Amino acid sequence: MLKAYLAEKKELVERNLQKILERYEKPELYSEAMKYAVMNGGKRLRPILMYMMCDLFGKKYEAIEDIACALEFIHCYSLVHDDLPAMDNDMYRRGKLTTHVKYGEAEGILVGDVLLTEAFNIVANSSAVSDSNKVKIIAKLSEYSGFYGMAGGQFVDMKSEHVKVSFETLKYIHAHKTGKLLTAAIELPLIALDIEEDKREKLVQYSKLIGIAYQIKDDILDIEGDFSETGKESNDEKNEKTTYPSLFGLEKSKEILEDYITQAKEIIIENFDSNRILMDLTDYFGKRGG
Ligand code: IPE
Ligand code: IPE
Ligand code: MG
Ligand code: MG
Ligand code: MG
Repeated sequence: MLKAYLAEKKELVERNLQKILERYEKPELYSEAMKYAVMNGGKRLRPILMYMMCDLFGKKYEAIEDIACALEFIHCYSLVHDDLPAMDNDMYRRGKLTTHVKYGEAEGILVGDVLLTEAFNIVANSSAVSDSNKVKIIAKLSEYSGFYGMAGGQFVDMKSEHVKVSFETLKYIHAHKTGKLLTAAIELPLIALDIEEDKREKLVQYSKLIGIAYQIKDDILDIEGDFSETGKESNDEKNEKTTYPSLFGLEKSKEILEDYITQAKEIIIENFDSNRILMDLTDYFGKRGG
């Protein structure tokens, strides 16, 4: 059931991404590199979480489709920059050459720049969202992507290479570099759909737990994952990154991951009648192979 849900929603997301990408025609090479960075086989979990929020409240998808593409643009930008030689220096992403390896380093930087910038253009020009909600969404999306969001987390991640940092710092890194865009995936649709405050708060709490869990699992997969599923080469050890396994070892990291997933599921059990598909999706965050 979850597998079918993920496949169906991924197709919806990719159709919308494709449509939006058609807007970018010239310079042709820039357009090509931009499309390469987006349409290269991601799991699309952040947009799928947005569709999930619509389903949870029985709402139509229309209001969130543009926002879902905007968030996926920002996520793809973060991956392109994350792979650059100055950052994680990776050759492969989603099973293919990284954008900068395929198109060049300056081009990779500029692909990231354009995806980030156009994401806000997509939200600003969406005809499916009211003007007052647009302002709220743009404010949240910039917060979750910026200094107090993903970019801040990435900065601390880079400063934590080759040095031993505290558990507090590790939590900061995971909550920001990965957690904040997952909170965006949950909170932005709730704003667009005018969902009441108390439900929103519970789901934001949920998003923080799955955000940290998502990155712990990514750290575990960096060690145990199979390229055919992750599409990435291991590099955390080579880059001397601070990760859960580097601080606690694999087994303890798996226990901590399980604990976050259990806490996240408790929020769903207590507040959303154990919604089946959301429970399964939450389990998937801890069990995914790629
Ligand atoms: C990878 O994100 C980077 C992290 C924040 C862990 P995903 O695992 O969602 O990557 P794609 O989008 O499916 O390639
Ligand atoms: C990066 O974490 C999270 C981002 C904000 C891109 P990682 O550097 O561990 O992500 P991967 O393993 O390269 O996807
Ligand atoms: Mg990184
Ligand atoms: Mg990386
Ligand atoms: Mg990783």
